[in-house]
Amino acid sequence: MTRTRFLTGITTSGTPHLGNYVGSIRPSVRASRTPGVESFYFLADYHALIKIDEPARIQRSTLEIAASWLAAGLDPELVTFYRQSDVPEIPELTWFLTCVTGKGVLNRAHAYKASVDKNTAAGDDPDADVTAGLFMYPVLMGADILMFNAHKVPVGRDQIQHIEMARDMAASFNHRYGEHFVPPQAEIEESVATLPGLDGRKMSKSYDNTIPLFSSREQLKKLIAGIKTDSRAPGEPKDTEGSALFQIYQAFASEEETAKLRQAYADGIAWGDAKTMLLERVDQEIAPMRAAYEDYMAHPEKVEALLLAGATKARAIATPFMAQLRNAVGLRGLANQAQTTHTKAAKVALASFKQYREKDGLFYFKLVDTAGGVLLQSLGFESPKVAGQSIAQLQAQGAAALTALQAQLQPLSPQAHAQVLDALAALAEAADSP
Ligand code: TRP
Repeated sequence: MTRTRFLTGITTSGTPHLGNYVGSIRPSVRASRTPGVESFYFLADYHALIKIDEPARIQRSTLEIAASWLAAGLDPELVTFYRQSDVPEIPELTWFLTCVTGKGVLNRAHAYKASVDKNTAAGDDPDADVTAGLFMYPVLMGADILMFNAHKVPVGRDQIQHIEMARDMAASFNHRYGEHFVPPQAEIEESVATLPGLDGRKMSKSYDNTIPLFSSREQLKKLIAGIKTDSRAPGEPKDTEGSALFQIYQAFASEEETAKLRQAYADGIAWGDAKTMLLERVDQEIAPMRAAYEDYMAHPEKVEALLLAGATKARAIATPFMAQLRNAVGLRGLANQAQTTHTKAAKVALASFKQYREKDGLFYFKLVDTAGGVLLQSLGFESPKVAGQSIAQLQAQGAAALTALQAQLQPLSPQAHAQVLDALAALAEAADSP
């Protein structure tokens, strides 16, 4: 019954470029329209704090990325679109997961290890300039994913290790506290692995070789003119293999269009003409979105309102789930000691409700344990509907319903009362677990 949940985030550390669009934004928007899919897309601004200490840049990037996603056609009605820092349950869950994650596992995380290796090679202290935030990056990401029990996480290859770590966190938590988390899976889009940048290396902010997604046509033209090519003259056949220009074109074009450019390469198209083809093809896709983007950029309050509405949607899931997790680990109110038996009860086989009609024409229900023993017996109801409603009330409210419905139930000894409460708690817990 539950739809497949997709979840992905973008760190709000820069201006979205064509590589982000092709690798993440465009496939997410498409996936969000697939029937049977429930999507969660968010702006990973807590993650941005790990890399960036310029407040204005984080704010600007958050707006740019949100506006890009919306302009690319993400429908906030259809998906849950939010800003990570608007969901305080995420950092709370981060702490729970921190407490079930081995430090040694985090020592092996690629991003942390890369910093350590670099320091070691330079003869510095291995942890020089490494913050605990960088070290904890995978746990925060695990909380992003597990908070919503996402099944699939569309990410680039460099993120696979993080998804595997999130699976481990889910398993360690479940092992200690019962089945609360679904193990997530990485979803790698083979066809859009990575887009090359201006210099032919992977398009990335860190290489300073990007083409911003929403440059003006003029800027786009200038940037495309700067794409590295070889020195073959017009008329000389050109190689598509290793041509950044060709690969970027391919990411936007249909198969027929790509085949045409391949032929043009073989026929010796001039680089200048190939660049014009690329400009036209990219602009054809981006131009219709540009107006929407500019409108969002000029009206940040619109974006803000959409994100806050998204956070409300996200928290409708996160708040009750976090309450369940707090209870599971033992962060509980002290008044209701019955809760302490939850975990014990969850391990015993579940009791069940049976509804039936007697010869007197009335409708009854009983709660029976797995051995067939009657734990709770109702009196007669006029209609099966009312009997059913009482069962639902017991399932939803437990002890409170037992008191409220007293007049319709056969009296219970104090000992039987405790047994019924345990059975109801176990049922509720089983119903809650994903
Ligand atoms: N780490 C991701 C990146 O740098 C962003 C991210 C944060 C993310 N939390 C996530 C992606 C959860 C997927 C799921 O691109």
